[in-house]
Amino acid sequence: MKIEKTLHSRIQKMDFNNIIFGNQYSDHMFCSEFKNGKWIHSIIKPFGNIMFSPISLVFHYGQAVFEGMKAYKDRNEEVFLFRPEENFKRMNKSAFRLEMPAIPENIFMNGLKKLIDIDRNWIPKHYGQSLYIRPFLIATNGVLSAKPSEDYMFMIISTPADTYYKHPLKIKIEEKYSRSASGGVGFTKAAGNYASSFYPTRLANEKGYDQILWTDSSTHTMIEESGTMNVFFYLKNKLVTPKANDNILSGITCKSIISLAEKEGFPVEERNLSVSEIIEGLKSGELKEAFGCGTAAVVNYFETISFQENDYDLPNLSEEKRISLYLKKRLLDIQHNLSEDPFGWRIRLKKYHYK
Ligand code: PLP
Ligand code: COI
Repeated sequence: MKIEKTLHSRIQKMDFNNIIFGNQYSDHMFCSEFKNGKWIHSIIKPFGNIMFSPISLVFHYGQAVFEGMKAYKDRNEEVFLFRPEENFKRMNKSAFRLEMPAIPENIFMNGLKKLIDIDRNWIPKHYGQSLYIRPFLIATNGVLSAKPSEDYMFMIISTPADTYYKHPLKIKIEEKYSRSASGGVGFTKAAGNYASSFYPTRLANEKGYDQILWTDSSTHTMIEESGTMNVFFYLKNKLVTPKANDNILSGITCKSIISLAEKEGFPVEERNLSVSEIIEGLKSGELKEAFGCGTAAVVNYFETISFQENDYDLPNLSEEKRISLYLKKRLLDIQHNLSEDPFGWRIRLKKYHYK
């Protein structure tokens, strides 16, 4: 792999006391091209604009998939990646569904590790902070007819991250719009899934809600996920989360929360979960907590769930009593190397020296 280091680092301009998600990008980026059926020209180079033909399929037919993962520092400023092989696998699952080539594991992992190593100074050091890493794959050629591209570009960029949501969330159960449909691409991180959620999310925002709680597209009676988060409900003393299916993105944070909760002895159920169960639980008080989780969002609890123009407030528990915050801490402690890692999720990043 070729490495071209920047001669003009922007790190001095980065205000680590005021981190705004996605506002500043680390000094370098990784690129690898797919041409004539082969992956060629892997390179780490200064972050900068890229140029493609206007007929590239990514611009017309949305042949694009991405991932989201994080690097964390511990107290000694050692750097750790969290379950990167899960992102690698999911990226290729998304690529397969969008008729894109698989990225070889060595290209993904070497590119990722070297890039984050070179840009390790961009990883904020405080608890809960991290470097958000965005691998993505786009179609870079085409002939304007609607068929898959022959050429692709795989890239990785990164941005310093702090808390994504600064407050508990107000969520609206959506009964009109859908994020995904059975047989579609909801289980992938296809770029278009996000574009199509912007309009209904804006409508919800205008009514004072932070996010939408998506329901199944055919009946709108089953809970799926919320924004960029999988969801959990502490209902009748069990942690219930909708079982991942082809409408739901199977989250790495969600899987980690399930493993942690089970290890801590909380009963967990991954199953189909109806809107009416949630509404009954809100009315009866048997729904004690509800929260979303994801790489960017980490864990965020909901304070209000709205259904058919009625707002239901969740119990106003103190922070110490919240399962969501307890599990969040367990997760962050592992990510920041502050506790044992019984699951082997942390990968320590070696330091290489590059010319
Ligand atoms: N659901 C959607 C739609 C997402 O965009 C994300 C974020 O990546 C998640 C769930 C959570 O997935 P993960 O925990 O792997 O980040
Ligand atoms: C993530 O949590 O990795 C996401 O994909 C959220 C992102 C769309 C901001």
